Amino acid sequence: MTTRMAVLISGNGSNLQAILDAIRMRVLDAEVAVVVSNRKNAYGLERAEKADVPTRYHALKPYLDDGKTREEYDADLAAIVGEYDPEWIVLAGWMHILSDAFLQQYPYAVVNLHPALPGKFPGAHAIEEAHAAFQAGEIDHTGIMVHLVPDEQIDAGPVITTTEVPIYKSDTLEMLENRMHQNEHKLLVQALQRLIDGDEDE
Ligand code: GRF
Repeated sequence: MTTRMAVLISGNGSNLQAILDAIRMRVLDAEVAVVVSNRKNAYGLERAEKADVPTRYHALKPYLDDGKTREEYDADLAAIVGEYDPEWIVLAGWMHILSDAFLQQYPYAVVNLHPALPGKFPGAHAIEEAHAAFQAGEIDHTGIMVHLVPDEQIDAGPVITTTEVPIYKSDTLEMLENRMHQNEHKLLVQALQRLIDGDEDE
């Protein structure tokens, strides 16, 4: 039985592309049932369209303009995702903190990719913060994690898998970002394979 996934993105979508490529090359026995973006010009939407995957755009601003809450936005997002009946919801560069209005609809079915090791550099600037911490001599390496998202904690939850990523003295931020993205693509596919095999825990 092919595993159905919904992938939520906000930007370039290189991790989405890694999933699509792994499916095309039969590395992942899965199907991306829908790609949802909260940003209209996310390049990831074009990647999805090129792969004939349905896409949806769900903007937060109209809700806030109408005096509605993030919870109302999240509840409608849950309904949109529900139309595609996914087993797993993959947050691959999704830059919006989900509330329980969404998460409680999909208990232990939401998976997040974060470019830092557990407990390190939560939030949207993890790679920059790791680069700065390395230059300050506070860390000697960084890493990446894929974890479940059972509640509203930011970039935290039961860890599915992690990998350490070296940082070198000669690294510019861009060199580190490129190395991180290459490792993310491999780790995310490995993590999804584990979920498909029913082997969640690291
Ligand atoms: C990745 O580094 C991911 O870990 C972070 O946002 C970035 C998204 O990259 N949350 P892309 O859009 O998949 O290329």
